[in-house]
Amino acid sequence: MPSVETSLPRLRCKDLLSILDLNHGELETVLRLSSRLKTERTLGLRAPTAHVLDGRHVGLLFEKPSLRTRVTFTIGVRELGGEVVEISADVMHADREPLHDVARNLERWVDAIAIRTFAQDRLVQLAQSTRDLHVINGLSDDEHPCQALADLQTLSELWGSLPGRIVAYVGDGNNVATSLVHAALMSGVSVRVATPKGYELPRAVIQAGASIATHGAELTELSDPARAVAGADAVYTDVWTSMGQEVEYAERKAVFRTYQVDGRLMAQAKPGAIFMHCLPAHRGDEVTDEVIESPASVVFDQAENRLHAQKALLLMLLG
Ligand code: CP
Ligand code: NVA
Repeated sequence: MPSVETSLPRLRCKDLLSILDLNHGELETVLRLSSRLKTERTLGLRAPTAHVLDGRHVGLLFEKPSLRTRVTFTIGVRELGGEVVEISADVMHADREPLHDVARNLERWVDAIAIRTFAQDRLVQLAQSTRDLHVINGLSDDEHPCQALADLQTLSELWGSLPGRIVAYVGDGNNVATSLVHAALMSGVSVRVATPKGYELPRAVIQAGASIATHGAELTELSDPARAVAGADAVYTDVWTSMGQEVEYAERKAVFRTYQVDGRLMAQAKPGAIFMHCLPAHRGDEVTDEVIESPASVVFDQAENRLHAQKALLLMLLG
């Protein structure tokens, strides 16, 4: 019988910087493994994967605040037998040493690093400077792939089969929206994105989406939240002002005022539609208390699934 280690599926890519690093089959495999790990978690140290990362180290480096990503990576690595090393964000300052030197040092000590940073290019530079260090995007200004893995797992658990479903994303065409759109289209889920003018998804994101869609899934760009939500199976939103954009808060609040997900908007979705949010949420801005606390809300399931999806990812990169 093959050992747990040899029977674990592997990813072709060294790093996970973007959902676009995965293909359709790999995404499906991550989600399947993630569900298995969720079930096996009740076994604790007797779980078949409890020692796969014995003697391995994973660095965590956050240049922005984090609750969910930090805690789920820490617990996830430990539950697989590995050790976490918290690295202070000040080592990333340009006047200290070049990014590629940071990466080449880390490569000698740790197997992987999960990083939350600003420009996506910082992740690319770190990843390209090393042959062996696995770099995982824990959120950049442009993408949040670990969130999208947990989101798709949440949908898959609720719906069983993903192709043919419709997700409406209402709000800022940001990092969370980008990764959600890519993971959904790759899974055969159509996405309707409603954004105000000037806050649309970047062109390159839309073009990439078209090339990876399966099962005829389509991306529709709109400006009217009601049209996006009409008949949708899920309604997703995120903060209007992302980390690093705080000076724009007042301006964004005015622009996005009509993009709040409230009870009236939810009522236009398909009966039984769910509400999703990556969290943290700014209640009273992008979502009302009523909606986030309603039975339709799956936001804490999404948060829980961050743990399982990232464990699956770690196993498929390092296992
Ligand atoms: N959703 C998410 O990434 O949460 P944190 O910012 O708390 O990590
Ligand atoms: N778009 C948000 C997501 C937080 C998880 C941000 O970047 O701040």
